[in-house]
Order: sequence, then C-alpha cells, then structure tokens
Amino acid sequence: MKNIVVLVSGGGTNLQALIDAEKRGELGDGKITLVVSSKPDAYALKRAKDNFIRTKVLARSEYADIAAYSKAMADTLKEAGADLVVYAGFMTILDEQVCRAFPNRMMNVHPALIPSFCGKGYYGLKVHEEALKKGVKITGATVHFVTEECDGGPIILQKAVAVKNGDTPEILQKRVMQEAEWKILPEAVKLFCEDKIKVENGIAVVEE
Ligand code: GAR
Repeated sequence: MKNIVVLVSGGGTNLQALIDAEKRGELGDGKITLVVSSKPDAYALKRAKDNFIRTKVLARSEYADIAAYSKAMADTLKEAGADLVVYAGFMTILDEQVCRAFPNRMMNVHPALIPSFCGKGYYGLKVHEEALKKGVKITGATVHFVTEECDGGPIILQKAVAVKNGDTPEILQKRVMQEAEWKILPEAVKLFCEDKIKVENGIAVVEE
C-alpha cells in the first residue's frame, strides 16, 4: 500500500476526484490516509470526513512565519508516514524543508499549461483571469513534482483545454477542472503508485 497525504485549502474538488478514483480502484495500491488543511473552514475537510478520512488543520495564521509553518508540516507528513504528498488546491508555499524531505514524492496540480501562467501569485481564479487577459486560445492543467521553485518542478502530465468566446474566469476554471484537473491528477497519482514515473536530469519520464 502507498500512503497518500493530501494537502488542501479550499473547496476540495480535486480531493473529491482522488477519493472517487480510489473508490473505483483507480489509484493502484494508493490509499488516502490523511487530509491536511491550511484553513480551518475549508469545505475539503467535510469531503474528507464524509469519506471517513482522517483530517488535520494546520492553520497558516497560527505560525509566525513560513519556516515555522513548514517545520510543522514536515513533522506532520513524516509522522503520517507519507509515501506521496498531493497538493490539491493547497495555496500555501512551503519552504525547502518540506520538499527536501520528500524529493519527487510531492505533486501539485496547477490550472494552466506550465510554463504559462504559473509561479508566485498565480493561483486559483487569478490564473484564468490572466489567461483570458492574454487571449490564449488553449489553456489546460499540469501535474508536476514540487521543488523549491514555485511551479517549477518536473512536469508529469498535462492536458489542454479550449478557451471559448465569452468565457469568464469562473466558466474557464470549471472547464479546466472538469476536462483536465479531475482527470490528470488521479492519473498521475496512479502512475506514481505503480512506480511508473522516473525523474532523470530534472525531467519526469512516464512509462508508457
Ligand atoms: C484548482 O483549480 C487547483 O488547480 C488550483 O486551485 C483550485 C482548487 O480547487 N490550485 C492552484 O492554483 C495552486 N497553484 P479545489 O479546492 O476545488 O480542488
């Protein structure tokens, strides 16, 4: 069994996609054993509880700085014995203590085709606002390993999504989630659990 810990901050639709995939037997031998939220009122916590998954709140506001918060997170993840850590709409940037403790064992879903519309400040709806401002005709989602560089780690999977005339950030966000994020995140987790992702010279190679 691969022990999966999911980090959340908000609605948790990506967490739900993972829970549903696990129920269908589509996470290989992966099992979600803990959901950690940076916000006490995140709806994602209800999704976890409804599915009898252990939850923990590590409120960012209760720690003096990012280093103290990252230390608490690293301790939590080690204590949980995480084989894989998944950022599913987790909106806090952790420092190097965490990604160094779990090299190529933390993945994040980002709502754009990296290297477009990514990095510090690009999160949630903001990403789609910027894509619409630029007038791109194709956007999408990316699952990548987490490194010290924000949104800069090895890319595991990407899926393109069309931008349509009249899209609002909200409409585009929903389409990117439905057509891309909720598919490629569980798929990447399954590939990880099946040991089908290798990182060579900073590039993720997925076994076909
Ligand atoms: C998702 O679109 C996710 O890709 C994005 O926030 C949303 C969370 O939704 N994450 C980021 O922007 C991280 N940089 P959810 O809570 O319903 O899964």
